[in-house]
Amino acid sequence: MKMRHLVAGLLSAGLAFAAFAQQPLVIKFSHVVAQDTPKGKASEFFAKRAGELTAGKVKVEVYANSTLYKDKEEMEALQLGAVQMLAPSLAKFGPLGAREFEVFDLPFIFDNSDELHKVTTGAVGAQLFAKLETKGIKGLAYWDNGFKSFSANKPLRTAEDFKGQKMRIQSSKVLESQMRAVGAIPQVMAFSEVYQALQTGVVDGTENPHSNLYTQKMHEVQKHMTVSDHGYLGYAVITNKKFWDGLPADVRGQLETAMKESTVYANKIAKEENDGALEKVKASGKTQVYVPTPAERLALKKAMVPVHKEMESRIGKDVIESVYKATGFDPGKL
Ligand code: LMR
Repeated sequence: MKMRHLVAGLLSAGLAFAAFAQQPLVIKFSHVVAQDTPKGKASEFFAKRAGELTAGKVKVEVYANSTLYKDKEEMEALQLGAVQMLAPSLAKFGPLGAREFEVFDLPFIFDNSDELHKVTTGAVGAQLFAKLETKGIKGLAYWDNGFKSFSANKPLRTAEDFKGQKMRIQSSKVLESQMRAVGAIPQVMAFSEVYQALQTGVVDGTENPHSNLYTQKMHEVQKHMTVSDHGYLGYAVITNKKFWDGLPADVRGQLETAMKESTVYANKIAKEENDGALEKVKASGKTQVYVPTPAERLALKKAMVPVHKEMESRIGKDVIESVYKATGFDPGKL
């Protein structure tokens, strides 16, 4: 009798273990934008491919729209291991002590995505990820969003128009300096709070690629938008280094493949998503969309490019020059 109980006990323990061993490893992936954006779609794509390539051993749970963590909290949560993956905008790494990332925020430093990709896939991109490792964070990929437009309740065409406008920015000293260069008053604020701040007049305007502006309904509370393409906004997909290094090698390899595929996907859809969002903003009739003339854009560029020099001591002259070298940008030739 006793023996029978023992055998039954061992059997059920064995079954419980087998069931436990089949539990998927859960990776929480938190981000702050809507699901219907380049980052939202790419993170869902990653979740799907991670599940398929690991044959269900890994389950990626995506939390969009700041439902799990807001901007500042998510970085802390990653370091504490409360969340395993994030894709913060490159403008949000300064508070972590990785100021070099703010090179991507320099106004007018990239003319197009090809120039940008030369940097993210080249030596500078790798150097920035190496810097993150010293903070216990591993960079997995760079994902595109796109080029930013300005919005406000008045038309923003010349540098003069920005004077005294309270402009929401991400937590980047370069963006702060960019706004000050045209006499605006920068205000750092979490992405999740921007819509309400615009609606209630806490700030007058902001900047973002069209996909973010449209999916957060900012166009409903902004009368004007300027398609200035004055700066780039993209992401670094990051994970907790200890967590990543601790994964079984085969699973890690499968996740790396899923990430590579997701990066191709993200960078392929980003422009389409932003172009589509711009069309929807126009169709809404709620915001007047203005495309500056080449002369107006050049004047704005001349007003903002001095920020590059001003930010040398923060970002590193060498980092800025490496970007110039990769893209061919010459601030002396404006
Ligand atoms: C913002 O905070 O304006 C954006 O960077 C949000 C995002 O992640 O795209």
